[in-house]
Amino acid sequence: MPSPGRRPTADDPVLVMGAGSIGAWLGGRLAAADVPVVMVGRPRTLNAMRAHGLTLTDADGGRLHLPPARLTLAEAVPEGLRPGLALLCVKSAATSAAAAELGARLPAGTPVVSMQNGLGHAARIAAAAPRLAVVPGMVPYNVAELSPGHLHRGTSGRLAAQAHPALAPWLPVLQAAGLAMDLHADLTAVQWGKLLLNLNNAVNALSGLPLRAQLLDRDLRHCTAALMREALAVLGRSGIRPARLSPLPPALLPAVLDLPTPMFRAVAARMLRIDDKARSSMADDLALGRVTEVEALNGEVLRLAASLGLEAPLNARLVALVHGWSRLARPLDGRGLRAALGL
Ligand SMILES: NC(=O)c1ccc[n+]([C@@H]2O[C@H](COP(=O)([O-])OP(=O)(O)OC[C@H]3O[C@@H](n4cnc5c(N)ncnc54)[C@H](OP(=O)(O)O)[C@@H]3O)[C@@H](O)[C@H]2O)c1
Repeated sequence: MPSPGRRPTADDPVLVMGAGSIGAWLGGRLAAADVPVVMVGRPRTLNAMRAHGLTLTDADGGRLHLPPARLTLAEAVPEGLRPGLALLCVKSAATSAAAAELGARLPAGTPVVSMQNGLGHAARIAAAAPRLAVVPGMVPYNVAELSPGHLHRGTSGRLAAQAHPALAPWLPVLQAAGLAMDLHADLTAVQWGKLLLNLNNAVNALSGLPLRAQLLDRDLRHCTAALMREALAVLGRSGIRPARLSPLPPALLPAVLDLPTPMFRAVAARMLRIDDKARSSMADDLALGRVTEVEALNGEVLRLAASLGLEAPLNARLVALVHGWSRLARPLDGRGLRAALGL
């Protein structure tokens, strides 16, 4: 087990744990800004980057290309690595194993920011790697792999993390890499603000449609609106006020989603500034028969409700629907999903 030695600094490399859509996006932006980055990932994604390099495009028309020689890739956390910052970017089912690997390899006190959706990850990382300085984080935008080695950011926003002294020196580094990050005294409200938006993920996944097309379907929007209303009611009872992460305040989201589509297009024009290619990554998981993050998202609503002695039957039905989904099943259209949810 490595000894703590000197404290990690912003001159040390960044370690990306889980070089998938979000990990390779963050790692690629940092590498393009000449920050030393080690990206740990699976052979499939690493081999694609070894063959094609990494191309990062975005909805604002940006395009960066890093040839393979500019990428430092590894299939496990290299022995003796002393990163100044680690970004944990695996999906929720892989959190504990990835955190245990970090805990075994990195010096005590290394800051590890969870860039994952949902609220429970930091606690799980800390349980698996108690010597590391675990910080909850939040990625507001959507990143999808369009082809091997090509990632596309389909929406926009600023990264966020819980305030921690180890993060302050990294803010200018992140900013220079186009990854501006805001620090919050308590990230809970921000995480819930993101989670509310993520309640659309399972709806999107079950619909089989790209995000924009799905949001233009009123029945599918109604399903998301109903899931959000239920979550907002539970949040209201808990005293948590979810942060505003979209142009609309959280409390107004369900009503706006329920508008007839021409009005929705007008009112939610910015929400619809998603390019045609964006989709939720849960859609890929469902299509490939992988474990989804529905437990970390809709499941969090159920856990909060239960902690208050309440129920969240609609989110519970959606969780059950996703768990019971076969990858061979046909996507559900808006009416089909409404019927399945009893709406
Ligand atoms: N994609 C987005 O738009 C987006 C936006 C905001 C937040 N997020 C959040 O970011 C997290 C990651 O999402 P993602 O879409 O980037 O997922 P992803 O594309 O599946 O990337 C995760 C990668 O990490 C790999 N991995 C898992 N355990 C590992 C380990 N121990 N060592 C090395 N690699 C490992 C995974 O491989 P396996 O598939 O073999 O496990 C996968 O290649 C999720 O919590 C998600 O909710 C995603």
